[in-house]
Amino acid sequence: MANLINGKEVSASVKQRVREQTEKLISENGVTPGLAVIIVGDDPASRVYVNSKKKACAEVGFNSFEYALPAETTQEELMTLIEKLNNDPKVNGILCQLPLPKHIDENAVINAIRAEKDVDAFHPFNVGKIMIGDFAFLPCTPAGVMELIDSTGTEISGKNCVVIGRSNIVGKPMAMLLLHRSGTVTICHSKTQNLAEICANADILVAAVGRANFVTADMVKEGAVVIDVGMNRLENGKLCGDVDFEAVEKKASYITPVPGGVGPMTIAMLMQNTLTAAKMQNNIG
Ligand code: GUN
Repeated sequence: MANLINGKEVSASVKQRVREQTEKLISENGVTPGLAVIIVGDDPASRVYVNSKKKACAEVGFNSFEYALPAETTQEELMTLIEKLNNDPKVNGILCQLPLPKHIDENAVINAIRAEKDVDAFHPFNVGKIMIGDFAFLPCTPAGVMELIDSTGTEISGKNCVVIGRSNIVGKPMAMLLLHRSGTVTICHSKTQNLAEICANADILVAAVGRANFVTADMVKEGAVVIDVGMNRLENGKLCGDVDFEAVEKKASYITPVPGGVGPMTIAMLMQNTLTAAKMQNNIG
């Protein structure tokens, strides 16, 4: 039976570390980190995420500024707001909650956020930095996964690491972080042949597919570390991951629950990035 990886506990220790450094930044340098969160429209899942991000800011001692815009907001109006926040010294990090309404060009928005304030690490400049391994901003969800793997004491170097999913937010940067730690990385996706076979060879399996119960027990190696990035809402309203938890926990050595696994980590890493942004913008090492 697998050990449960407790994302709430690991995220609490990351936030505690951020909180201590924030107290120091405020008392020694008079700088309070500030995060601006933009939400366009009224997607209920996005609303939950944004509320959690604001709550985390309060916990670690940051200022947070929420911009809740109506679904009809134009591209131009959103760009004008981003430009204002780019130039506001009280705002160290800018996060525009995705997905955006269809009429807004998401890439244009990502590109408009100044790279130094891009605490999601979605801007091509920061993506490039992640690719070459010289980065200040962590890709939040993948970095949270790394913290969870490290919390188990599992060695990554040389291990077979399989990532299911190739999104810009999770799959691709996840593969990069594992590669930087000398994992032998395979990225699988909807066109992958022999998916089950490849997964069954993984010492570390990261599922970021977006389909409930996609990863079944036959796809998991005995003793594997299984990380579930999925967040799927079932018809009965229940939240569930990409992994068939009940069957897979009998085979894995470590497994993350949903909820309470990766979710809280993403937010903790966002706090870490906002602190980094505040220090960089004030030339504090
Ligand atoms: N939507 C889902 N995940 C994320 C995230 O990490 N950042 C932003 N900005 N939007 C998201």
